[in-house]
Amino acid sequence: MSGKKLYLVTVSAGFEVEAKREIQRLVPYADVCSLFFKGNLLVECPPSADLISAVKKNETKYIGRVFPVEKAVKISKNKESLKQIYDEVLSLDKLREGETFVVRCRRRGRHNFTSQDVERELGALLEKTSGAVVDLKNPLKVVTVQIFQDQAFIGVSRADEILRKEIKIFKKYERGERPLTRAEHKIKEAIKAFKLEIKRDFRVLDVGAAPGGWTRVLASLADNVVAVDPADLDPSVKTLPNVVHLKCKAEEIPSDMGDFDLIVNDMNLDPAESARIMVDLAKFLKRNSSAVMTVKFVTRNRKKHVAQALEILKAEYRDFKVKRLPHNRYETTIFMRKA
Ligand SMILES: C[S@@+](CC[C@H](N)C(=O)[O-])C[C@H]1O[C@@H](n2cnc3c(N)ncnc32)[C@H](O)[C@@H]1O
Repeated sequence: MSGKKLYLVTVSAGFEVEAKREIQRLVPYADVCSLFFKGNLLVECPPSADLISAVKKNETKYIGRVFPVEKAVKISKNKESLKQIYDEVLSLDKLREGETFVVRCRRRGRHNFTSQDVERELGALLEKTSGAVVDLKNPLKVVTVQIFQDQAFIGVSRADEILRKEIKIFKKYERGERPLTRAEHKIKEAIKAFKLEIKRDFRVLDVGAAPGGWTRVLASLADNVVAVDPADLDPSVKTLPNVVHLKCKAEEIPSDMGDFDLIVNDMNLDPAESARIMVDLAKFLKRNSSAVMTVKFVTRNRKKHVAQALEILKAEYRDFKVKRLPHNRYETTIFMRKA
C-alpha cells in the first residue's frame, strides 16, 4: 500500500461529507472515500501522519471508530474466498506464542458466510499456527476483518490501539422535525424528477416498504397503498386508514391482489435480484402504468448494476429513465412503464 497508511473510519451515518471535512482538518492530505455503506469511510494518510493520535488529541463530532488497515483483499460472496482473507492475516505474522487475541469480523453485503464463520475459523487457524490463544474478554491483540461486499480490510492491533470515540452529532433534525426515514426525501425527489402523476384513486404497491417513509408519502397522495415488507412499519404509518401492510416478502404476494396503478420498490437487495422480482410483479401492474425502483450500489461497479437491472427489466417494462437523485448517495433510481 505504497507506504501510505490506511484506516477504516466509522462515522455518523448521513454525515459522511461533514466527517470527511473533519478528517481532512486533522490530516490535511488525507484521501477520504466512501465505501458505499452509510457511515463508513476509507482514509488514506501520508506515511508521516497518524490519524489515530490526531483523532485522540482533538475534539471531534462525527468520528466513531478508527481501525488501522494493513491489508485490503478482493473477495467474492462465496465461502471459498475466505481463504484469501485467512492467508493475508497469516502473512502479517503479528501474533506470538502465548499472546491472547480475538478475531472481530463485521460483514456488510450479501455473502454465503457469516461474520461468526470468519471469527470462529480464523480464530482456530491462528491458534494452531501461532500458538496464541483466543481470549474473548480481555485480549492483548485484536484481529479486525471488516467486509464491505467484495472488499475485505484486515488489521491486527493491540486492543488498546483501537480508537473508539463518542459520536457527538448523529441527527440532522430536531425532535419532531425528522422525516420517518431519509427515504421519504427519495420518493419525493423521484415523484418530481420523473413527473410521476399519482391520482387520488390510484392503488399503489410499495415493496420493501418498512419502516414506511415512502408509504407515508404515497398514502398522502393516493387512496389505497399496499405496503409489502417482512419488517414492521412504523406505527404512525401502519395505522393510516388507507394503508394495508402485507408482512411478507415481495416474492410471496398473493396472486389475487388485484391490479395496481403504480409499483415502487426500495428493497435493499442485489439489483439483479430486485429487477427479477419487478419482472414477476409486472403481472399486478396495469398496462402503461409506471414503476419506480432503486438500484442499490452493493459494489463500486455502479454502471454494471444499472445495466444488469435494465437488461432484466426489459422483459416486462419500457420507457426507462435512470436518475441519481440528491438523496441517492448509495443508489440510483429507475423509472419505467409496463410494456
Ligand atoms: C431501504 S429499506 C426501505 C425503506 C422504505 N422505502 C422507507 O421509506 O421507509 C429496504 C427494505 O426492503 C425490505 N426487503 C428486503 N428484501 C425484501 C423482499 N424480498 N421483499 C420485501 N421487502 C424486502 C427490507 O426488509 C427493508 O425494510
